Amino acid sequence: MKMFLLTLLSFMLLACGTTDVDPGARPENGGTTPEETEMVLKDAPFPVGVAVTPHHMKSEPRYNALIKKEMNSITAENHMKMSHLSSARGEYTWDGADYIVSFAKENNMRVHGHALLWHRSIADWVNELPKGDRELWIEVMKEYITDVVTHFKGDVLSWDVVNEAFNDDGSWRSTPWYDNIGEDYMDLAFQFAHEADPDAILFYNDYGMEYSTAKRSKISEEVTAMIERGVPVHGIGLQMHIDIYSTKSNMVASINAAASCGVLVHVSEFDVRTNPDEDKNATFTEEVAQKQRESYQYMFEALMTIPQHQQFGVTMWGLVDNHSWLSDAPDWGLPFNKEYERKPAYYGIIDAITVSEE
Ligand code: G3I
Repeated sequence: MKMFLLTLLSFMLLACGTTDVDPGARPENGGTTPEETEMVLKDAPFPVGVAVTPHHMKSEPRYNALIKKEMNSITAENHMKMSHLSSARGEYTWDGADYIVSFAKENNMRVHGHALLWHRSIADWVNELPKGDRELWIEVMKEYITDVVTHFKGDVLSWDVVNEAFNDDGSWRSTPWYDNIGEDYMDLAFQFAHEADPDAILFYNDYGMEYSTAKRSKISEEVTAMIERGVPVHGIGLQMHIDIYSTKSNMVASINAAASCGVLVHVSEFDVRTNPDEDKNATFTEEVAQKQRESYQYMFEALMTIPQHQQFGVTMWGLVDNHSWLSDAPDWGLPFNKEYERKPAYYGIIDAITVSEE
């Protein structure tokens, strides 16, 4: 009877064309359905995580419950960034980040730290430092990285040490760190993080390796050169803010390029836009839901094809659609909808990881 009703509902939704999608509808490709799986995301062969905010953790009981059920890794969406942590030189506000770390410890989850250096999260007091004084900028960078990594030592397993150092054409991005120190700010940042916590796993993190071959090549070359120089870089984070028109071959190419450096590969900020043109009248139709499902499946499958010891995991950039940084577009980029229900994208992941179980 339940199946009959579901099927009937699916027909009704399809007949309506652009109605919001039924999260339980059977996909046309006959993949996994809600009735058929007892699996959860953390059954994947690598850790699966989510970017979180303390606000949602404290205000919505369903939020923490779903994370505990589905995930075994967690990342602060914003609360470990410099502009959140540091209001003055040597002064820190740890509350939000500590709250996330405590939740992870209580629930036996790993914590991935994001991000030590990012040009879009420079503290105000850093922006006011005198320009061009290389030694001062190195000193300040070392102090900041040392303080933060030391505070979380033993609790945060891994860090995005440098985030988005390159432009899409492969050139170095102008950032306060680059402009005042030079290219070797990257090497120094990794060395300082390693000195503060020799056990931490250290990542270079960026977006666009799936669509820009120039950026893909530059990052691969740079990370390889850093390794040859003895810099402690252990992984590449591919943010992968993709959309339903992103091709499978580009996802595979970016994951393979990162893996070819011999380092860990983290799909670190995954989401799949369904409305990349930001059409204010867009809705989440059955058709885009199925395309999104494929994107989720392809990406998980692609990560599973690289050597297992290099599969660091996947972090989704938010838990439910309406809390996502994309939601105002409007967009529906995540595997759970605003009712905390599993979407077809969720079952795309289950299909990918089911293969690994067989
Ligand atoms: O919390 C305040 C709220 O009190 C205030 O009323 C409101 C007014 O604008 O701002 C709120 O803070 C915003 C915060 O998101 C929480 O929603 C910040 O302004 C806004 O800048 C911040 O945006 C974050 C962005 O990074 C910049 O830090 C997004 O949430 C976050 O998803 C996004 O994440 C980045 C990754 O770190 C790096 N890769 C790209 C990714 C997407 O941009």
